Amino acid sequence: MGLDLEYTNGQTPLEEDEKDGLLIPTITTRADLDEYEHLNIEEAMFWITSKTLKTETIFTEKFVRNLHKRMYGNVWKWAGDFRKTNKNLGVDKWQIPTELKNLCDDALYWVQQKTYSPDEIAIRFKHRIVSIHCFPNGNGRHSRLMADIIIEKIFNLPLFTWGAGDLIQQGDIRTNYIQAVKEADQGNFAPLISFSRS
Ligand SMILES: Nc1ncnc2c1ncn2[C@@H]1O[C@H](COP(=O)(O)OP(=O)(O)O)[C@@H](O)[C@H]1O
Ligand SMILES: [Mg+2]
Repeated sequence: MGLDLEYTNGQTPLEEDEKDGLLIPTITTRADLDEYEHLNIEEAMFWITSKTLKTETIFTEKFVRNLHKRMYGNVWKWAGDFRKTNKNLGVDKWQIPTELKNLCDDALYWVQQKTYSPDEIAIRFKHRIVSIHCFPNGNGRHSRLMADIIIEKIFNLPLFTWGAGDLIQQGDIRTNYIQAVKEADQGNFAPLISFSRS
């Protein structure tokens, strides 16, 4: 093989199991995959921009799954389908529909009762849905787009900035983000809320 040039700068090849359900056979590296997913997510964001969405529509399994399908459906066969295996993060695979229903019911109540500020409602929803980990992959980006949809479509407030940099690649922004996520795991949402507005 010679020098490992192909392993630098995100040129990491995908593992065999990571290729399961890949709809575009020419994608062979992490960098290719990031690029295709990014384009697909931009399409999903464009689809959302033109839509008026009611609170009762957003907080449903149907919408949550449809958004995931819109974000990754060009790239992954399983886009929009709940995970069929257990992961180190997330609830047991059989609990996904129930946990998601509970979250949607809770979130609807938070909005109606003004239990928390708009930012806190969006961020609590984001954190709990990524903790359920509904899908085989793409949960982090999906949860952030859900938070953006909640803040814009329900509350008519400016979108989150999410550290104003690259959250996907390793780096300081990613490190700060994961730190804030871990605080939220302990029930302290302030760091994640302030990160999302930084
Ligand atoms: N301890 C944790 N608690 C809750 N969420 C976490 C934790 N660690 C990681 N995450 C979330 O899981 C995401 C990774 O899941 P994944 O499905 O691979 O999403 P993506 O492919 O969009 O990055 C991270 O981006 C982060 O948002
Ligand atoms: Mg991932």
